Amino acid sequence: MNRKVTVVGGAGNVGATVARSIAERELADVVIIDIADQKAAGVALDMYESQPILGSDARIIGGADWSAAEGSDVVVITSGKPRKPGMSRDDLVKDNFAIMQSIAPNLVKYTPNAVIIPVANPLDAMSQALFKLTKFPRERILGMAGVLDSARMSTFVAMELGVSVENIHSFVLGGHGDTMVPLPRYSTCAGIPITELLSKEKIDAICKRTADGGAEITKLVGTSAWYAPGTAAAIMVEAVLKDKKQVLPCSVYLTGEYGINDLFVGVPVKIGARGCEQIIEIKLTAEENAALQKSAGAVRELVDVIGM
Ligand code: 2OP
Repeated sequence: MNRKVTVVGGAGNVGATVARSIAERELADVVIIDIADQKAAGVALDMYESQPILGSDARIIGGADWSAAEGSDVVVITSGKPRKPGMSRDDLVKDNFAIMQSIAPNLVKYTPNAVIIPVANPLDAMSQALFKLTKFPRERILGMAGVLDSARMSTFVAMELGVSVENIHSFVLGGHGDTMVPLPRYSTCAGIPITELLSKEKIDAICKRTADGGAEITKLVGTSAWYAPGTAAAIMVEAVLKDKKQVLPCSVYLTGEYGINDLFVGVPVKIGARGCEQIIEIKLTAEENAALQKSAGAVRELVDVIGM
C-alpha cells in the first residue's frame, strides 16, 4: 500500500489492537516496533497471516529496528507501563516519561514528517513530553484520550436509554485523568441533549463511571484496557490518512484557547491530513469552565514533575 503507519509498542495489547484495526480495514501498511523484537515479529506475522482471510492487502512487519518506520504517515505511541489495579494513570508518569525520552530521538530521525498519536499514560503529560522533546509542530501531535472517554460515555448512555450506540454522541473535555470533564449538555441521542432524556442522578452516575472507566477495566482485567483505547487510536489514524476533517476530542497543545496556555489538554479538534487543522472553542458555563481549569491544573502538576 502507499501509506504507512508505525505502531510503537505494537507487540503489547493496545498496540496490537491499533495495528490490527488499521490492517484489517486496509488503511495502510503497518510497522510494529517494539523492544521485544521477536514478539513484534511474531505478532506482525500472525496478523499478516490473517489478511488473506480478511481480504486485506495491508502488509504488516514487526521488530525493534526503527529504520522500518522511515516514511511513516502516522506513528502511534503505545509503549509504556500499563496500570495495575489500584494505580492511577498519574502513578506512571516517571517510568513512562523515561520511555518517551528513548522514543523521541527515533521520531526525529526516522519519522520527522509524521503525525504522532501518543496513547501512553498519563496521556496529556506524555503528549507534552513528546512535543517538547521532538520540537515537532503542535499540529502534528494528537493525544488519544477524548475519543476513548467519549466512547465510554456513549456506551453507558446507550445502555441506560436502551438505544443504538449509533444514536449517541458524547462529549468529554479535559485531561485524561480522574478530573476529566464529561459534558452532558453537549451529549446527545439522535440530536436530543441527554439532559432532556435522563435524570440528573442518572447523568451524574454516567459521568462518574466515565471518569472511572479505565480503573473499572483495570480492576476487572488486572491491567489497562486495550480494545477501546486501541480502536480509538485507529479511528484517529483513519481521520488523518483519509483527510476526513473529522471533529474529534483530542489532547492538543493549547496556546491560549479555553484560557489555557502551553499545555496539552483534551478539546474538540478538526483532524485532517496535517493533523490538528483547527481547535474548536465552544462556550462553557462557569461550572464547566471551572471543571476544565481544574483538570488542566492536574495536567500541569504532572508536567511540572517531569520538567516539561
Ligand atoms: C484507559 O483509560 C488505558 O488510559 C487508558 O483505559
